[in-house]
Amino acid sequence: MSGKIHAAITGVGKYAPEKVLTNADLEKMVDTSDEWIRTRTGIRERRIAAPDEFTSDMGLRAAREALAQARVAPEAVEAIFVATCTPDRIFPSTACLIQAALGAKRAYGFDISSACAGFLMALDAAAGAVESGRVRNALVIGAEKLSAATDWTSRNTCVLFGDGAGAVVLQAADRPGIRSTLLGVDGTLADFLSIPAGGCRLPASEETVRQRLHCMHMAGRETFKIAVATMLEAAQQAIARAGLTVADIDCMVPHQANMRIVEAVAKRLGDGVLERVFINLDRYGNTSAASIPIALAEAVAAGKIASGSKVLMVAFGGGLSWGGTVVEWL
Ligand code: UT7
Repeated sequence: MSGKIHAAITGVGKYAPEKVLTNADLEKMVDTSDEWIRTRTGIRERRIAAPDEFTSDMGLRAAREALAQARVAPEAVEAIFVATCTPDRIFPSTACLIQAALGAKRAYGFDISSACAGFLMALDAAAGAVESGRVRNALVIGAEKLSAATDWTSRNTCVLFGDGAGAVVLQAADRPGIRSTLLGVDGTLADFLSIPAGGCRLPASEETVRQRLHCMHMAGRETFKIAVATMLEAAQQAIARAGLTVADIDCMVPHQANMRIVEAVAKRLGDGVLERVFINLDRYGNTSAASIPIALAEAVAAGKIASGSKVLMVAFGGGLSWGGTVVEWL
């Protein structure tokens, strides 16, 4: 035994708001069709948070489920990292709001803004804190109310996104649960996918609201191509860094943006990979930072991930930013 501290996922949880918005509903709102949305994205429906339901509320629900599964009491939580691009407020952080609601009196925490790659960035920050011995456990949450940042008049974006939250508990372990991580960003492509207003560069004004600059804007086609190439590279490097081959991966949990992206990445990774991919984007759409932890929680609940499983998570999104992480379920 080396005595080295490792980090392992010991609990997962998710929360999806009750309200379902179907493609048929969207047909009544913008010039689109169920057929276009299904064939171009794979999405059939998405969840929409209630008007009085916010990112911290959803993150809290997912966190409670993950803590219960890990058998960690809220008072024992030492760190809370929340990945979100739709925080309740610019500050205080969503992590602080969840910390208070949980009663996690011992925990510190902060938000991580890395759009769809945010969960893997947060997981890495948490793993670092656990592996260094600074904390014995950490709650990692991906939560989004993207419906609040969606331009409901733009068919280019409004058919894609949804709300929800997922969470995991990381704990110190004597062998690696988190086997490898590969993260990257390319800020030269920042304008491909962004919420242009609301920061100090373009503070809220009547004009920013009129131009819908508080909503997500995306160069879809350009983003698509880079997503495939980057997710493939991140997946391959994460697998190699874990000392594994593609054949060793039992379950792949990709960011759930578009079925065509997932298929392209899985096919390029190798034969038979697509059969091992967990997909739920048909029911949730793209929930940005929440997408991987929601899928992870559902894959565990469905028995696709169990003790001994080697899981590849791979993400891509605004920043541009991306990540690949290989985890062994202990
Ligand atoms: O979450 C992380 C980052 N995000 C992504 O990874 C998303 C990446 N991009 C995509 O998933 C896809 O590019 C989209 C789903 C956004 C778009 O699919 P596409 O196959 O790239 O379509 P397109 O943007 O090239 O548009 C094709 C046509 C256009 O019409 P024209 O110009 O060919 O006449 C669009 O105006 O489809 C039209 N279109 C629609 N038609 C019906 C765009 N949105 C819609 C719509 N309904 N909702």
